[in-house]
Amino acid sequence: MAKLWAGRFSKNTDETVNAFNASILFDQRLYPQDIEGSLAHSEMLARQGIISLEDKEAIHQGLKEIKEALDQKQIVLDQRYEDIHMAIEQILTEKIGDAGKRLHTGRSRNDQVALDVRLYVRKELLEVSELLKELLRTLVQIAKENTHTILPGYTHLQRAQPISFGHEMMAYANMIRRDVKRIHNTLEVMDECPLGSGALAGTTYPLDRELSASLLGFSKACDNSLDGVSDRDYCLEAMSDLSILMMHLSRLSEEVIAWCSWEFKFIELDDAFATGSSIMPQKKNPDICELIRGKTGRVYGDLMQLLTTMKGIPLAYNKDMQEDKESVFDAFDTVKICLQVLIPMLETMQVLDENMKNAAMKGFINATDMADYLTRKGMPFRDAYKITGQLVAKALEKKQGLNELSLDELKEYSDLFEDDVYDAIDLLTCLNARLTKGGPSPAEVSRQIKVMEEFIDSL
Ligand code: ARG
Repeated sequence: MAKLWAGRFSKNTDETVNAFNASILFDQRLYPQDIEGSLAHSEMLARQGIISLEDKEAIHQGLKEIKEALDQKQIVLDQRYEDIHMAIEQILTEKIGDAGKRLHTGRSRNDQVALDVRLYVRKELLEVSELLKELLRTLVQIAKENTHTILPGYTHLQRAQPISFGHEMMAYANMIRRDVKRIHNTLEVMDECPLGSGALAGTTYPLDRELSASLLGFSKACDNSLDGVSDRDYCLEAMSDLSILMMHLSRLSEEVIAWCSWEFKFIELDDAFATGSSIMPQKKNPDICELIRGKTGRVYGDLMQLLTTMKGIPLAYNKDMQEDKESVFDAFDTVKICLQVLIPMLETMQVLDENMKNAAMKGFINATDMADYLTRKGMPFRDAYKITGQLVAKALEKKQGLNELSLDELKEYSDLFEDDVYDAIDLLTCLNARLTKGGPSPAEVSRQIKVMEEFIDSL
């Protein structure tokens, strides 16, 4: 097939070069965006009197038919076409003749591809944002059911202080809320349309760039044509957002993996969201979480690839930038599938509150509360800290919890101990008392949940 750019060439392209140069095998998924862009461009051309109304009608009719045929996979897009932009123009011209050849008036593939990728990133970001809304709903639901479910909170993976499983879920909800905000911010920053930037220097036709921009749902046309064709910041920003999001999902996955182990046994995954071993009949593995943790590296890689590709490119368009697509596609595909399996996995997992409670009973996580008890009775905190430490050592020696030491034993260390100490170091008391804003008390977590629900409703 002759190239659309064949004019100045006297030889056909070498076959290997053809294959090397072509992006059609991966950029064909941009066909809806490419057609959307062409519909808007031709509409604007007609309204500006640059093409006739009849030509525009023919172009629109032809593009709609091509879109339907592509939706139904009736057209095979192969390497003869080089890329999706040339493919559609060529198929259109075969269909409607000269009108098809007028579509590209005042446009270059450089602003065309810059537009297509931008439209694609915008659509994908909105999809991810919807999935995150679902994830937030799930986390809030689990939190609501578990405001009183005592869980040992950890630092250094050592049992530290009592929290609730609801508090833990709300921590993740807060991370995801920031992810949503970051995505919305990216959408705002990228809200300008590159169409009309031409190859690099605009065009001599009287284009109405603001009209094209508004037809395509952008608030404005971008301000500089060189930047318009060579800006891929929005891809990088989107992939940065996705990388941070994956980091959050990976941390949650890491915890779920630990919680599923016999060592913790804080949760039980639903059979539909766990996998077995080919040799060990007893195994029920949290493969989903391991894959999410693993795929996080892959999304970081996607971001690194494009950052590295972009850093040495002089203005304006260079073919290096064709390398923007596969990593952007991969990052979105990966994040979406991760969220699609993670959400129902969380929804169906069983919270083993007894096991959480038992673990909480064993780790001396009420030691701070015992020190606070003595402090409230007048002892300087540092002294209270030291005495409680000694009591922990004693309890360890006796293989007991702090609450199992008798009042006489406690009094050997300080006269300030009274009967009310047992209530003061009861785990539920410890939890209820942590009322500071952001803390784990059921009342406070309920407040956090309310704030989060308002955020979800505002989306
Ligand atoms: N397939 C190309 C890309 O994805 C389209 C733009 C080509 N422009 C050019 N001047 N060769 O970047």
